[in-house]
Amino acid sequence: MDDKEILREKVRNLAAEFAGEGDAFGWFDALYKQAAGDNEQIPWADLEPNRFFVRFAEETNLQGDGRNALVVGCGLGDDAKYLHDLGFNVTAFDISPTAIEWAKRLHVKTGIKFFTADLFDPPKEWYQAFDFVLEIYTIQPLPLEMRPKVIDAIANFVKFPYGKLVVVTRGREDNETPTELPWALSRRDLSRFDENGLKQTYFEVMQGDEEPPIPRFVIEYAQKAENVQLFPE
Ligand SMILES: C[S@@+](CC[C@H](N)C(=O)[O-])C[C@H]1O[C@@H](n2cnc3c(N)ncnc32)[C@H](O)[C@@H]1O
Repeated sequence: MDDKEILREKVRNLAAEFAGEGDAFGWFDALYKQAAGDNEQIPWADLEPNRFFVRFAEETNLQGDGRNALVVGCGLGDDAKYLHDLGFNVTAFDISPTAIEWAKRLHVKTGIKFFTADLFDPPKEWYQAFDFVLEIYTIQPLPLEMRPKVIDAIANFVKFPYGKLVVVTRGREDNETPTELPWALSRRDLSRFDENGLKQTYFEVMQGDEEPPIPRFVIEYAQKAENVQLFPE
């Protein structure tokens, strides 16, 4: 086992401890707290924007042009900072108060609006409010039985009629059963976004640098054209 895998095992044990007490979320803040300012104690926190998302942004020439963006489960805020640098007006939130305080310290001069908030109980004014929603690795660590609810909650942030959403996640085939946290998403899982009135406008499978490599799905969604009435009656 290499150091990264040892760390992941520790995180799985922590998550299982909380799950044993019926708490699916408490382990995130516990982990950020235990890390005590050392990002290397957190498997996903590398103080850089997600490289699969950066590839998407470069390939599609993503530009903010002052549009508003929401980063879901933002952790230490490096993807929020990347969107800010692309010219978005960024709001970012996480359920962990420790992560949010840490993110605020790291990105103090940016003007990014960081909030402690729960995906399942967000401020009402965020409903269908964002031109661009970014979700990276927040669906996959949450329990599988919550997955449809998590996806519905994320889809609800996308502005109607012209908002977009990008999801970056570990991917698996529909006939593969996920065996351990983080629970990769299949195309069937993702079809729940379509049920929320979104359609895929980009789908790319990118390979991670683990050995063996773990595939990442990078997906962009837009509102379905048939839902968009340009000239409402
Ligand atoms: C695997 S981490 C990914 C963090 C960040 N997106 C990244 O890629 O570095 C998942 C994040 O989702 C947050 N999270 C988990 N459940 C949440 C919820 N119900 N509402 C908001 N954030 C949540 C966790 O605190 C954690 O920071």
